Amino acid sequence: MDIELRAATAADAERCGQICHAAFADIGGRHGFPSDMPELEWAIADFMRWIAHPGYHVIVATDEAGAIVGCMAIDERSTISGLGPIAVEPTLQSRSVGLKLLNAALNRSRRREVPGVRLVQAAFNGCTMGLCARAGFVVREPLVTLQGPALALAIPGYRVRIATESDLAAADALCRRIHGHERSGELRDAIATGSARIVEHDGRITGYASELGFGGHALGESNEALKALIGAAGEFTGQGFNLPTRNSELFRWCLEHGLRIVQPLTLMSLGLYNEPQGMFLPSITY
Ligand SMILES: CC(C)(COP(=O)(O)OP(=O)(O)OC[C@H]1O[C@@H](n2cnc3c(N)ncnc32)[C@H](O)[C@@H]1OP(=O)(O)O)[C@@H](O)C(=O)NCCC(=O)NCCS
Repeated sequence: MDIELRAATAADAERCGQICHAAFADIGGRHGFPSDMPELEWAIADFMRWIAHPGYHVIVATDEAGAIVGCMAIDERSTISGLGPIAVEPTLQSRSVGLKLLNAALNRSRRREVPGVRLVQAAFNGCTMGLCARAGFVVREPLVTLQGPALALAIPGYRVRIATESDLAAADALCRRIHGHERSGELRDAIATGSARIVEHDGRITGYASELGFGGHALGESNEALKALIGAAGEFTGQGFNLPTRNSELFRWCLEHGLRIVQPLTLMSLGLYNEPQGMFLPSITY
């Protein structure tokens, strides 16, 4: 199959959404896991938003007739680029379309001189794990997606409140201390939509969440800060939030509070990566 790659336009959003919706239902169904993109309308809306956003880049793969057969989104809002979702029309998989999309994304990141690229893949998906490992990605962290009813609990001494633009500098500084880079672009968007939360302890910011759920990341100086953010969340958006299982204390605490494992995931990186100097919950990109 002759494949061409190009940047997506607004007119491509519907087809990209359809491919992702079908491809994630197919891979999840084959392994007995729920789809990462269960609602077609939401998948299309995501692509409309990403294609229109100057901080995202969406690549489409087209066949000889110009029909879109695969797509991939890159989140370029912050220092590190986050890859995904990537999907190929189910009937046309295993013909190197995914590899071409991945290589195009990595070539673009090289051209932009991005210090690091990351992604989160479903650990049951041997195809993405093998594809990404061969492309140079390093396995960094085993994760699980956790979901369940809101915990509605407070941690004494930890106050959770809505984040505002005036929190950005302090939140970025905390992210740099823990991860060695900021995630300003994502946090600014989350503040604008109202999903971002700050946790304060002893009169200072000790953690934040851009969103407690699949599309958001959170970090904290301690597990108490993350517990406060998780405990205060009204819901866990999308499939749920992603937790590094090496953080045994927080993992056990979540399970003891009734949360259930949805699926295992793997955080992978290429380029800059620092062992986190604090606690964190990665989004579905990193
Ligand atoms: C993941 C996806 C985009 C890959 O696209 P694709 O066009 O099917 O994949 P390609 O043909 O380019 O790549 C196949 C390569 O994956 C690797 N691979 C596949 N299965 C593998 C396995 N079980 N073990 C190790 N490597 C494997 C191999 O390197 C293989 O190449 P090879 O057959 O030449 O050795 C596509 O399968 C898809 O849409 N899946 C559903 C959605 C999804 O899971 N997205 C990723 C979210 S984490």
